[in-house]
Amino acid sequence: MQNVVILENVVKRFKKITAVDNLCLQVHRGEIFGLLGPNGAGKTTTINLIIGLLKITDGHIDVLGFNPDKQAKEIRKHIGLVPQETNVYEDLNAMDNLQHHAALYCHDLRGLKKQIQEKLKLMDLWDRSREPVRNFSGGMKRRLALARTLLHDPEIIFFDEPTLGVDVQVRHNLWNHIKQQRARGKTFIISTNNMDEADQLCDRLLIMDNGKQIVEGSPLELKDNFGKDIITIKTNPVIIDTGDVLKHFKPDNIVQTNDGYTRFEIENGEELAGELVQTIKISYKLESIQIAKPSLDDVFLHFTGRALRE
Ligand SMILES: Nc1ncnc2c1ncn2[C@@H]1O[C@H](COP(=O)(O)OP(=O)(O)O)[C@@H](O)[C@H]1O
Ligand SMILES: [Mg+2]
Repeated sequence: MQNVVILENVVKRFKKITAVDNLCLQVHRGEIFGLLGPNGAGKTTTINLIIGLLKITDGHIDVLGFNPDKQAKEIRKHIGLVPQETNVYEDLNAMDNLQHHAALYCHDLRGLKKQIQEKLKLMDLWDRSREPVRNFSGGMKRRLALARTLLHDPEIIFFDEPTLGVDVQVRHNLWNHIKQQRARGKTFIISTNNMDEADQLCDRLLIMDNGKQIVEGSPLELKDNFGKDIITIKTNPVIIDTGDVLKHFKPDNIVQTNDGYTRFEIENGEELAGELVQTIKISYKLESIQIAKPSLDDVFLHFTGRALRE
């Protein structure tokens, strides 16, 4: 397995804020690697450090054998960036957007028309390529930004929040386009604060919070290694002293919602369910109980003590 990006103890400080705090990671060629964390976790800063848009405070970064602090120009030949804010020209049509980009960034303009056509077709935008981009939906603009990035055939594509501002219904479409590019050998480094995106799109994830690495692994590993079940109960009235009522089951990370639900983690949830129901019924009316394997939301809550909401 070849590592195309390596971060060793990377630190980025902006005056008092430590945006990236001792981060270590390796990205393998041909995978979709996700940085998952809430707003302000340090995802965009990490991407900007890797591509040499920001200077690192401490540590070391290697991108395809180059050092972004000294060889950012070299690195830019091999990478593409789709930034968090889609920066397409709203008044130009899709064709002209790509032509404009190529004129600025591509060294070799031979066969450009064919290239543009191919990329727009790949992203299912060819039929709309003569329309001003301001008519496009959020998902279409993200696809156009990806088409633009593919024009110079980069090895590694950085995609900052792929489906930010994209309707839930069309997210899968964009994910499929990204997966198609992975199948063609591209490596993706994406950032996201969306659990479904992390779960369904990424091969491996690094969960980060406050600039720090929380845990790393494939979505499946992260969920399987968790080792606990998630119990959600609804009682009438709401359990007031959860610690006392549930103490026999050694619950962890108890969260109660305003609408009367109590959620907690226990080991062997399936085996203990019967006993749990009996215990609760002594003092409360049990309206519902759900036993579930952990989701990435649960993994995040477990490690940070906070829920990750969009
Ligand atoms: N140019 C900057 N100057 C000062 N602080 C910054 C700058 N860029 C980012 N930050 C801070 O660094 C932290 C991480 O930000 P960012 O990398 O944008 O997070 P994310 O992309 O995960 O939402 C935040 O606290 C943010 O306010
Ligand atoms: Mg960001």
